[in-house]
Amino acid sequence: MEARKPVKPAPTLPGKDDGRGSQAATPVRRSWEWLSCRSMTAIEPQVYLNGQFVPRSQATMDIEDRGALFADGVYEVLRYFAGRPLVLEDHLQRLRLSMQAIRLTEPPWVTGLGHVSDELVRRNGLADATLYWQVTRGSAPRDHVFPKGATPTVLAIAYPAPSIEQAGQLAAVEAILHEDLRWHLCSIKSLMLLPNVLAKNRAVESGAREAILHRGNRITEGTSTSVFIVRSGELWTHPADQWILGGITRRLLIGLAPGLGVPVVERTYTVEQLLTADEVLICGTTTLVAAVVRVDGQPIGPGSVGPLTRQLHGAVVDYIKRNCCGG
Ligand code: PDD
Repeated sequence: MEARKPVKPAPTLPGKDDGRGSQAATPVRRSWEWLSCRSMTAIEPQVYLNGQFVPRSQATMDIEDRGALFADGVYEVLRYFAGRPLVLEDHLQRLRLSMQAIRLTEPPWVTGLGHVSDELVRRNGLADATLYWQVTRGSAPRDHVFPKGATPTVLAIAYPAPSIEQAGQLAAVEAILHEDLRWHLCSIKSLMLLPNVLAKNRAVESGAREAILHRGNRITEGTSTSVFIVRSGELWTHPADQWILGGITRRLLIGLAPGLGVPVVERTYTVEQLLTADEVLICGTTTLVAAVVRVDGQPIGPGSVGPLTRQLHGAVVDYIKRNCCGG
């Protein structure tokens, strides 16, 4: 979407002085320690928690946070390329919809999350980053009933991520099929990811990158990606209803495909139609676009990257370069 200006100061957000972000943490070895060892710098990453930027080792959440007790919260994942967020407004909008869907009253600071993220990326000295946002219903003694007056817990973490030059290489991956064991409200970006985690690990254990989920005979999506198939020159993808997450990369592809002369059909399709497709591709914020060349060990088409996948991947990379990298 639009290119954004460099960082503005972060607005003051609720919870700034409530002390929840300042308790001492148990020392745990973190992935960033490895990164900082490699680069021989002693700079500790900062995260954003309840209105404050704090060093990672000092960021602690209450043990009765409803995110931990009930997965009672929602999240977003977005990418920064060359210091600029990709389709920020779409992520903010989906976060709002997810919060509405779980009846978490939208806090007024949501609009400021973009500036918080800019600031977090800057404070961590990153240009290419993956941003994780999490909002839970807050902390209260364990009770299924919504707590009265709890303040939502807001967390943002910035992770180093590949540049567009590195991420822009089209990957050919394998996938497995896996029964979709999730609930009936998959359009909510809920913290409740155990079915996705279990299926993804089945995939990785069998040497594949992704598990493509199906409800009975109907393909829905991947554990962390949207799925498209190509049949007779058309691009098919499951409709954005309650059975899939309305992927933002999915929407980007749907917007770009007609410009390449590729018609998009949002329709359901079967396991058989996927296995006999000319091409299968997965897409998502962290994956961008990847060609799926084998499913359950069976080649898709000739078992190599197909021409439409290559074109769509190129269109997404160009879009990112134009909108984030000034190119
Ligand atoms: N996952 N489907 C599911 C189930 C997902 O979890 C995701 C994203 C997608 C792709 O959506 P988008 O294009 O908006 O990233 C589809 C994120 C990246 C994650 O959980 O890490």
